[in-house]
Amino acid sequence: MTRSFDRSQALYQRALETIPLASQTFSKSVMSTVEGAAPLFLEQGDGARVRDVDGNSYVDYVMGLLPVVLGYRDPDVDTAIRAQLDRGISFSLATELETDLAERLVSLIPCAEMVRFGKNGSDATSAAVRLARAHTGRDKVAICGYHGWHDWYIGTTARHLGVPKSVRELSITFPFNDANALEALLKTEPDAFAAVILEPAGLEAPETGFLEAVRSLCDRYGVVLVFDEIVTGFRIHMGGAQAAYGVTPDLACFGKAMGNGMPISAIVGKGNMMRLMEDIFFSGTFGGEALSLAAAIATVDKLNSEDGPGKFSEMGARLKKGVLSVINSHGVSEEFVTKGDDWWPALLPTGRGRGDAILIGSLIKQELIEAGVLMGATFNLCLAHGDTGVIDETLAACDAAIGKVAEALKSNDPHARLRGKPMQPIFQVRQHKLED
Ligand SMILES: Cc1ncc(COP(=O)(O)O)c(C=O)c1O
Repeated sequence: MTRSFDRSQALYQRALETIPLASQTFSKSVMSTVEGAAPLFLEQGDGARVRDVDGNSYVDYVMGLLPVVLGYRDPDVDTAIRAQLDRGISFSLATELETDLAERLVSLIPCAEMVRFGKNGSDATSAAVRLARAHTGRDKVAICGYHGWHDWYIGTTARHLGVPKSVRELSITFPFNDANALEALLKTEPDAFAAVILEPAGLEAPETGFLEAVRSLCDRYGVVLVFDEIVTGFRIHMGGAQAAYGVTPDLACFGKAMGNGMPISAIVGKGNMMRLMEDIFFSGTFGGEALSLAAAIATVDKLNSEDGPGKFSEMGARLKKGVLSVINSHGVSEEFVTKGDDWWPALLPTGRGRGDAILIGSLIKQELIEAGVLMGATFNLCLAHGDTGVIDETLAACDAAIGKVAEALKSNDPHARLRGKPMQPIFQVRQHKLED
């Protein structure tokens, strides 16, 4: 049986009339999927499962691109939101909720002495860069990882249309796990860099000594160290990668998993730098919006009391081991690789062997959907993936899907097995080292 996506297709055509790309987010758009053989619109979520507009159900490993960390419609978070809804959403002055959540973050995150809230991860990373510039009186930023849609970061990528050259010249990237490259960069202009901002861990783990070396380079050159913990926060450890690896930055950014899907982010950091928030401009209408704050308090409390990060690691380890054995059993270890630490495992095409990464990535996406799993390259875990049978069901679906891809690769024309248009690269969001 092949799933039908007729209503998704019809809605897509309708949305295209009024919404460029028919989506608010590249990674949720037609570009990131096999157009014609995949759903484009969802209408309901429950725990770890979602249903599309054609009535197809899936175990979801996108989870809204990581914010849904407990599961869809988590009863504790939804109760907190409903209780707040009875009091009000956006107020004309601050609320106690802001301090309640700030105090929790200060107690959990090593570098957090003070806290400010935003809505998107990009709010927090951009605030950190502005704060670092204000603190140092310098302009340049050394960057490693993905940090959102604002000019200072997106200007470093291939998708920099609309970003002035003069802004692009201020941001310079360096490779992960390469402290020598960072040192060489800082050395070229010892008084120019305001901040080093990096994702401290991701699909690649930091090598022993790397984060420590970055910390000491920042100290030596008087640069503010910012950890972008928007993916790692509340997943690798309740205190972020800085707690997991024992290296404390000056500032850190959190978002995504904080509110189980509600839009909320935070910049946290050392008091002497955070106090400068009173002088720079980081100020918006919705920073203190109360439903998201109430949701974040309930989410952080539940992740903390149920040892969310411990559970993600256990589930991730099972998935990684199971998927690796499926890859081997179907003879596609040249074409697929598992990556990532247990808290955030990934299944990636290598780009080697019998097909390029776009073809194999598209085939696996198509076949996982057919087998009832919706995912990008990573298993974005939530606590509800621990519900009885979900991981076993996922591994059975991976077995079916990888088996189909293996079959396609044995055929004369694997492209002919695609039932829609292949995915389109947005740009390399994260550098994947595929050799290992
Ligand atoms: C590490 C990291 N930083 C920043 C961002 C930007 O967050 P947002 O999309 O909420 O603005 C993202 C989003 O994917 C991210 O993964």
